[in-house]
Amino acid sequence: MNHNVRVNLGKRSYDILISEGLIENSAQYIVPLLSRPRVAVITDENVGGLYLDTLNDALSKAGINSDTLTLPAGEATKSWPYLTQSVEWLLEKKIERHDIVIALGGGVIGDIVGFAAAILRRGVRFIQMPTSLLAQVDSSVGGKTGINAPHGKNLIGAFHQPSLVLADISALDTLSKRDFLAGYGEVVKYGLLGNADFFEWLEVNGLALAQGDKEKRAEAVHMSCQMKAEIVASDETEQGNRAILNLGHTFCHALEAATGYSDRLLHGEGVAIGCTLAFDLSARIGLCAQEHPSRLRAHLKTMGIKTDLSDIEGDLPSAKALLELMEQDKKVVDGKLRFILAKDIGESFVTSDVNKSDVIKVLSHALSISA
Ligand code: GLY
Repeated sequence: MNHNVRVNLGKRSYDILISEGLIENSAQYIVPLLSRPRVAVITDENVGGLYLDTLNDALSKAGINSDTLTLPAGEATKSWPYLTQSVEWLLEKKIERHDIVIALGGGVIGDIVGFAAAILRRGVRFIQMPTSLLAQVDSSVGGKTGINAPHGKNLIGAFHQPSLVLADISALDTLSKRDFLAGYGEVVKYGLLGNADFFEWLEVNGLALAQGDKEKRAEAVHMSCQMKAEIVASDETEQGNRAILNLGHTFCHALEAATGYSDRLLHGEGVAIGCTLAFDLSARIGLCAQEHPSRLRAHLKTMGIKTDLSDIEGDLPSAKALLELMEQDKKVVDGKLRFILAKDIGESFVTSDVNKSDVIKVLSHALSISA
Protein backbone atom coordinates (compact mmCIF):
# COMPACT_ATOMS: atom_id res chain seq x y z
CA MET A 1 0.00 0.00 0.00
CA ASN A 2 1.22 3.50 -0.88
CA HIS A 3 1.58 5.61 2.27
CA ASN A 4 3.15 8.68 0.70
CA VAL A 5 1.95 12.19 1.50
CA ARG A 6 2.23 15.45 -0.44
CA VAL A 7 2.71 18.74 1.39
CA ASN A 8 1.03 21.36 -0.79
CA LEU A 9 2.82 24.67 -0.45
CA GLY A 10 2.89 26.02 -3.99
CA LYS A 11 6.49 26.25 -5.22
CA ARG A 12 7.70 24.85 -1.92
CA SER A 13 5.56 21.67 -2.16
CA TYR A 14 7.25 18.35 -1.46
CA ASP A 15 6.63 14.65 -0.95
CA ILE A 16 6.95 12.61 2.21
CA LEU A 17 7.79 9.07 1.15
CA ILE A 18 6.93 6.50 3.81
CA SER A 19 8.04 2.89 3.40
CA GLU A 20 10.63 0.28 4.27
CA GLY A 21 14.14 0.35 2.77
CA LEU A 22 14.14 4.02 1.79
CA ILE A 23 17.69 4.68 2.99
CA GLU A 24 18.95 1.80 0.86
CA ASN A 25 16.88 2.94 -2.12
CA SER A 26 17.29 6.67 -1.54
CA ALA A 27 19.36 7.52 -4.64
CA GLN A 28 16.47 7.14 -7.10
CA TYR A 29 14.55 9.84 -5.19
CA ILE A 30 17.54 12.12 -4.62
CA VAL A 31 19.03 12.09 -8.14
CA PRO A 32 16.13 14.01 -9.77
CA LEU A 33 16.66 16.86 -7.29
CA LEU A 34 20.39 17.31 -7.94
CA SER A 35 21.94 19.94 -10.17
CA ARG A 36 25.30 18.12 -9.96
CA PRO A 37 26.20 14.67 -8.57
CA ARG A 38 27.18 15.87 -5.12
CA VAL A 39 25.58 16.07 -1.66
CA ALA A 40 26.59 16.81 1.91
CA VAL A 41 25.25 14.53 4.65
CA ILE A 42 25.04 15.53 8.30
CA THR A 43 24.21 12.88 10.89
CA ASP A 44 24.97 12.00 14.49
CA GLU A 45 27.23 9.37 16.03
CA ASN A 46 24.42 6.91 16.83
CA VAL A 47 22.51 7.10 13.57
CA GLY A 48 25.70 7.41 11.53
CA GLY A 49 26.96 4.14 13.02
CA LEU A 50 23.76 2.40 11.93
CA TYR A 51 22.86 3.89 8.55
CA LEU A 52 25.65 6.01 7.10
CA ASP A 53 27.33 3.18 5.19
CA THR A 54 23.99 2.15 3.66
CA LEU A 55 23.27 5.72 2.57
CA ASN A 56 26.77 6.37 1.24
CA ASP A 57 26.77 3.05 -0.67
CA ALA A 58 23.43 3.94 -2.25
CA LEU A 59 24.71 7.39 -3.23
CA SER A 60 28.02 6.11 -4.56
CA LYS A 61 26.33 3.39 -6.67
CA ALA A 62 24.30 6.17 -8.28
CA GLY A 63 27.52 8.12 -8.99
CA ILE A 64 26.83 10.79 -6.34
CA ASN A 65 29.78 12.09 -4.33
CA SER A 66 28.99 12.63 -0.68
CA ASP A 67 30.83 14.26 2.20
CA THR A 68 29.73 13.51 5.74
CA LEU A 69 29.83 15.42 8.99
CA THR A 70 29.02 13.43 12.13
CA LEU A 71 27.87 15.42 15.17
CA PRO A 72 27.47 14.18 18.74
CA ALA A 73 24.07 12.63 19.53
CA GLY A 74 21.75 14.43 21.95
CA GLU A 75 19.82 17.62 22.54
CA ALA A 76 22.97 19.61 23.46
CA THR A 77 23.95 19.45 19.77
CA LYS A 78 21.08 21.80 18.90
CA SER A 79 23.20 24.81 19.87
CA TRP A 80 25.30 27.66 18.44
CA PRO A 81 28.67 25.81 18.52
CA TYR A 82 27.37 22.90 16.41
CA LEU A 83 25.41 25.21 14.12
CA THR A 84 28.63 27.16 13.50
CA GLN A 85 30.54 23.93 12.95
CA SER A 86 27.92 22.66 10.47
CA VAL A 87 27.71 25.87 8.44
CA GLU A 88 31.48 26.32 8.31
CA TRP A 89 31.92 22.68 7.28
CA LEU A 90 29.35 23.11 4.48
CA LEU A 91 31.24 26.20 3.27
CA GLU A 92 34.57 24.37 3.51
CA LYS A 93 33.07 21.56 1.39
CA LYS A 94 32.00 24.22 -1.12
CA ILE A 95 28.32 23.35 -0.96
CA GLU A 96 26.72 25.73 -3.42
CA ARG A 97 23.33 27.43 -3.56
CA HIS A 98 21.87 24.71 -5.84
CA ASP A 99 23.27 21.72 -3.94
CA ILE A 100 21.41 19.54 -1.48
CA VAL A 101 22.17 18.89 2.18
CA ILE A 102 20.85 15.67 3.73
CA ALA A 103 19.81 15.47 7.39
CA LEU A 104 20.11 11.82 8.44
CA GLY A 105 18.85 11.34 11.99
CA GLY A 106 16.21 12.18 14.55
CA GLY A 107 14.66 15.49 15.56
CA VAL A 108 17.89 17.12 16.74
CA ILE A 109 19.70 16.49 13.45
CA GLY A 110 16.66 17.48 11.36
CA ASP A 111 16.27 20.76 13.24
CA ILE A 112 19.91 21.87 13.26
CA VAL A 113 20.68 20.74 9.69
CA GLY A 114 17.48 22.35 8.41
CA PHE A 115 18.50 25.61 10.08
CA ALA A 116 22.06 25.39 8.73
CA ALA A 117 20.55 24.89 5.25
CA ALA A 118 18.21 27.84 5.80
CA ILE A 119 21.03 30.27 6.52
CA LEU A 120 23.82 28.87 4.30
CA ARG A 121 24.22 31.19 1.32
CA ARG A 122 20.76 32.60 2.25
CA GLY A 123 19.18 29.19 1.81
CA VAL A 124 20.09 25.88 0.20
CA ARG A 125 17.74 22.94 -0.29
CA PHE A 126 17.76 20.00 2.10
CA ILE A 127 16.32 16.51 2.42
CA GLN A 128 15.04 15.12 5.69
CA MET A 129 15.82 11.44 6.30
CA PRO A 130 14.19 11.01 9.73
CA THR A 131 15.17 7.86 11.61
CA SER A 132 13.14 8.25 14.83
CA LEU A 133 9.36 7.93 15.13
CA LEU A 134 9.18 11.42 16.59
CA ALA A 135 11.02 12.89 13.61
CA GLN A 136 9.01 10.86 11.07
CA VAL A 137 5.63 11.98 12.40
CA ASP A 138 6.42 15.52 13.43
CA SER A 139 9.72 17.34 13.35
CA SER A 140 10.87 16.43 9.82
CA VAL A 141 7.64 17.74 8.30
CA GLY A 142 6.53 21.34 8.10
CA GLY A 143 9.76 23.31 7.87
CA LYS A 144 10.34 24.34 11.48
CA THR A 145 14.12 24.38 11.91
CA GLY A 146 16.31 25.76 14.66
CA ILE A 147 18.43 25.40 17.74
CA ASN A 148 17.92 25.91 21.48
CA ALA A 149 18.94 29.02 23.40
CA PRO A 150 19.95 29.27 27.05
CA HIS A 151 16.53 30.98 27.45
CA GLY A 152 14.60 27.99 26.14
CA LYS A 153 14.04 25.36 23.47
CA ASN A 154 13.78 26.19 19.77
CA LEU A 155 13.98 29.94 20.37
CA ILE A 156 16.36 30.53 17.44
CA GLY A 157 15.30 29.29 14.03
CA ALA A 158 13.62 29.73 10.69
CA PHE A 159 10.86 28.25 8.61
CA HIS A 160 12.63 26.37 5.81
CA GLN A 161 10.78 23.56 4.06
CA PRO A 162 12.68 20.44 3.01
CA SER A 163 12.61 19.44 -0.66
CA LEU A 164 11.83 15.83 0.20
CA VAL A 165 11.25 13.69 3.29
CA LEU A 166 12.30 10.01 3.18
CA ALA A 167 10.76 8.27 6.20
CA ASP A 168 12.28 4.79 6.22
CA ILE A 169 10.03 2.65 8.41
CA SER A 170 12.79 0.02 8.79
CA ALA A 171 14.87 2.56 10.72
CA LEU A 172 12.31 2.36 13.55
CA ASP A 173 13.48 -1.22 14.25
CA THR A 174 16.67 0.00 15.92
CA LEU A 175 14.93 2.43 18.31
CA SER A 176 14.87 1.53 21.99
CA LYS A 177 11.39 0.80 23.34
CA ARG A 178 11.52 4.05 25.31
CA ASP A 179 12.44 6.15 22.25
CA PHE A 180 9.76 4.46 20.16
CA LEU A 181 7.11 5.13 22.80
CA ALA A 182 8.25 8.73 23.20
CA GLY A 183 7.60 9.18 19.46
CA TYR A 184 4.25 7.53 19.99
CA GLY A 185 3.35 10.47 22.27
CA GLU A 186 3.37 12.67 19.14
CA VAL A 187 1.34 10.08 17.19
CA VAL A 188 -1.42 10.04 19.83
CA LYS A 189 -1.41 13.84 19.73
CA TYR A 190 -2.73 13.76 16.13
CA GLY A 191 -5.70 11.58 17.08
CA LEU A 192 -6.47 13.85 20.01
CA LEU A 193 -6.17 17.13 18.14
CA GLY A 194 -8.20 16.38 15.06
CA ASN A 195 -9.19 12.81 14.30
CA ALA A 196 -11.18 10.71 16.77
CA ASP A 197 -11.24 7.80 14.29
CA PHE A 198 -7.44 7.77 14.27
CA PHE A 199 -7.37 7.78 18.09
CA GLU A 200 -9.77 4.82 18.05
CA TRP A 201 -7.55 3.08 15.47
CA LEU A 202 -4.57 3.61 17.79
CA GLU A 203 -6.51 2.14 20.72
CA VAL A 204 -7.00 -1.00 18.62
CA ASN A 205 -3.62 -1.14 16.83
CA GLY A 206 -1.20 0.72 19.14
CA LEU A 207 0.26 -2.36 20.81
CA ALA A 208 0.76 -4.18 17.50
CA LEU A 209 2.63 -1.26 15.97
CA ALA A 210 4.75 -0.85 19.11
CA GLN A 211 5.60 -4.56 18.86
CA GLY A 212 6.91 -4.09 15.33
CA ASP A 213 4.04 -4.47 12.85
CA LYS A 214 5.52 -2.65 9.84
CA GLU A 215 2.28 -2.09 7.95
CA LYS A 216 0.64 -0.56 11.02
CA ARG A 217 3.74 1.57 11.68
CA ALA A 218 3.61 2.88 8.12
CA GLU A 219 -0.11 3.57 8.47
CA ALA A 220 0.42 5.49 11.74
CA VAL A 221 3.24 7.58 10.20
CA HIS A 222 1.07 8.16 7.11
CA MET A 223 -1.98 9.29 9.13
CA SER A 224 0.16 11.61 11.29
CA CYS A 225 1.97 13.14 8.29
CA GLN A 226 -1.28 13.52 6.35
CA MET A 227 -2.81 15.50 9.20
CA LYS A 228 0.30 17.57 9.68
CA ALA A 229 0.61 18.26 5.93
CA GLU A 230 -2.96 19.59 5.79
CA ILE A 231 -2.47 21.84 8.79
CA VAL A 232 0.89 23.15 7.52
CA ALA A 233 -0.54 23.77 4.04
CA SER A 234 -3.26 25.93 5.59
CA ASP A 235 -0.97 27.87 7.95
CA GLU A 236 2.71 27.42 7.08
CA THR A 237 4.17 29.97 9.50
CA GLU A 238 1.79 29.44 12.42
CA GLN A 239 -0.25 32.59 12.22
CA GLY A 240 -3.28 30.67 13.48
CA ASN A 241 -4.44 27.08 13.31
CA ARG A 242 -0.98 25.43 13.04
CA ALA A 243 -0.68 26.10 16.77
CA ILE A 244 -3.01 23.14 17.44
CA LEU A 245 -0.02 20.92 16.58
CA ASN A 246 1.29 22.13 19.93
CA LEU A 247 -1.36 20.23 21.90
CA GLY A 248 0.28 19.25 25.20
CA HIS A 249 3.38 21.33 24.46
CA THR A 250 2.80 24.25 26.86
CA PHE A 251 2.84 21.80 29.77
CA CYS A 252 5.55 19.73 28.09
CA HIS A 253 7.99 22.62 27.67
CA ALA A 254 7.64 23.55 31.36
CA LEU A 255 8.24 19.94 32.38
CA GLU A 256 11.27 19.65 30.12
CA ALA A 257 12.72 22.84 31.62
CA ALA A 258 11.93 21.56 35.14
CA THR A 259 13.76 18.29 34.44
CA GLY A 260 16.74 20.08 32.87
CA TYR A 261 16.11 18.71 29.33
CA SER A 262 17.56 15.48 30.66
CA ASP A 263 16.89 11.77 30.34
CA ARG A 264 14.33 12.11 33.14
CA LEU A 265 11.82 13.15 30.49
CA LEU A 266 12.05 12.71 26.73
CA HIS A 267 10.22 15.27 24.59
CA GLY A 268 7.55 12.82 23.37
CA GLU A 269 6.95 11.63 26.94
CA GLY A 270 6.43 15.26 27.94
CA VAL A 271 3.96 15.62 25.06
CA ALA A 272 1.99 12.58 26.28
CA ILE A 273 1.85 13.92 29.86
CA GLY A 274 1.11 17.41 28.49
CA CYS A 275 -1.83 16.06 26.47
CA THR A 276 -3.23 14.39 29.59
CA LEU A 277 -2.90 17.67 31.52
CA ALA A 278 -4.49 19.63 28.64
CA PHE A 279 -7.46 17.22 28.74
CA ASP A 280 -7.59 17.50 32.57
CA LEU A 281 -7.69 21.30 32.22
CA SER A 282 -10.36 21.07 29.52
CA ALA A 283 -12.49 18.83 31.76
CA ARG A 284 -11.91 21.07 34.78
CA ILE A 285 -13.25 24.15 33.00
CA GLY A 286 -16.20 22.22 31.61
CA LEU A 287 -15.11 22.03 27.97
CA CYS A 288 -15.11 18.26 27.77
CA ALA A 289 -16.45 15.35 29.78
CA GLN A 290 -14.28 13.76 32.47
CA GLU A 291 -14.41 10.48 30.52
CA HIS A 292 -12.08 11.97 27.84
CA PRO A 293 -8.97 12.42 30.05
CA SER A 294 -9.76 9.02 31.57
CA ARG A 295 -9.90 7.38 28.13
CA LEU A 296 -6.62 9.03 27.13
CA ARG A 297 -4.94 7.90 30.36
CA ALA A 298 -6.17 4.34 29.85
CA HIS A 299 -4.66 4.20 26.34
CA LEU A 300 -1.31 5.72 27.34
CA LYS A 301 -1.04 3.33 30.29
CA THR A 302 -1.85 0.34 28.07
CA MET A 303 0.97 1.45 25.77
CA GLY A 304 3.37 1.80 28.73
CA ILE A 305 4.24 5.44 27.98
CA LYS A 306 4.62 8.10 30.68
CA THR A 307 1.13 9.44 31.38
CA ASP A 308 1.18 11.43 34.63
CA LEU A 309 3.57 13.61 36.62
CA SER A 310 4.03 10.61 38.95
CA ASP A 311 5.75 8.80 36.07
CA ILE A 312 8.63 11.33 36.13
CA GLU A 313 11.37 10.20 38.50
CA GLY A 314 12.62 12.63 41.15
CA ASP A 315 11.23 15.87 42.54
CA LEU A 316 9.29 18.39 40.50
CA PRO A 317 8.83 22.10 41.23
CA SER A 318 5.59 23.45 42.74
CA ALA A 319 2.53 24.17 40.59
CA LYS A 320 3.33 27.91 40.80
CA ALA A 321 6.91 27.34 39.65
CA LEU A 322 5.70 25.17 36.76
CA LEU A 323 3.27 27.91 35.73
CA GLU A 324 6.16 30.40 35.74
CA LEU A 325 8.09 28.08 33.42
CA MET A 326 5.05 27.90 31.15
CA GLU A 327 5.09 31.68 30.94
CA GLN A 328 8.50 31.49 29.23
CA ASP A 329 6.88 29.60 26.37
CA LYS A 330 7.07 30.91 22.78
CA LYS A 331 3.29 30.73 22.66
CA VAL A 332 2.87 33.58 25.14
CA VAL A 333 1.19 36.49 23.31
CA ASP A 334 0.81 39.89 25.03
CA GLY A 335 1.77 38.19 28.28
CA LYS A 336 -1.13 35.70 27.98
CA LEU A 337 -0.48 31.98 27.81
CA ARG A 338 -1.99 30.19 24.84
CA PHE A 339 -3.32 26.69 25.44
CA ILE A 340 -4.55 24.03 23.10
CA LEU A 341 -7.66 22.67 24.79
CA ALA A 342 -10.20 20.07 23.73
CA LYS A 343 -13.96 19.80 23.46
CA ASP A 344 -13.69 16.10 22.70
CA ILE A 345 -11.15 13.53 21.56
CA GLY A 346 -10.32 14.73 18.03
CA GLU A 347 -11.58 18.27 18.63
CA SER A 348 -8.91 20.68 19.84
CA PHE A 349 -8.68 24.45 19.55
CA VAL A 350 -6.35 27.30 20.51
CA THR A 351 -7.33 29.68 23.30
CA SER A 352 -5.83 32.34 25.55
CA ASP A 353 -8.96 32.37 27.64
CA VAL A 354 -7.74 30.29 30.57
CA ASN A 355 -7.57 31.39 34.20
CA LYS A 356 -4.18 30.81 35.76
CA SER A 357 -5.99 29.62 38.91
CA ASP A 358 -7.44 26.68 36.94
CA VAL A 359 -3.98 25.78 35.60
CA ILE A 360 -2.59 25.90 39.15
CA LYS A 361 -5.42 23.66 40.39
CA VAL A 362 -4.84 21.07 37.65
CA LEU A 363 -1.08 21.06 38.29
CA SER A 364 -1.50 20.95 42.09
CA HIS A 365 -3.84 17.98 41.76
CA ALA A 366 -1.44 16.20 39.38
CA LEU A 367 1.49 16.89 41.74
CA SER A 368 -0.46 15.74 44.80
CA ILE A 369 -1.10 12.31 43.28
CA SER A 370 2.58 12.10 42.34
CA ALA A 371 3.82 13.00 45.87
N1 GLY B 1 5.78 20.54 15.98
C1 GLY B 1 4.78 21.51 15.75
C2 GLY B 1 4.83 22.13 14.40
O1 GLY B 1 5.58 21.69 13.55
O2 GLY B 1 4.15 23.09 14.16
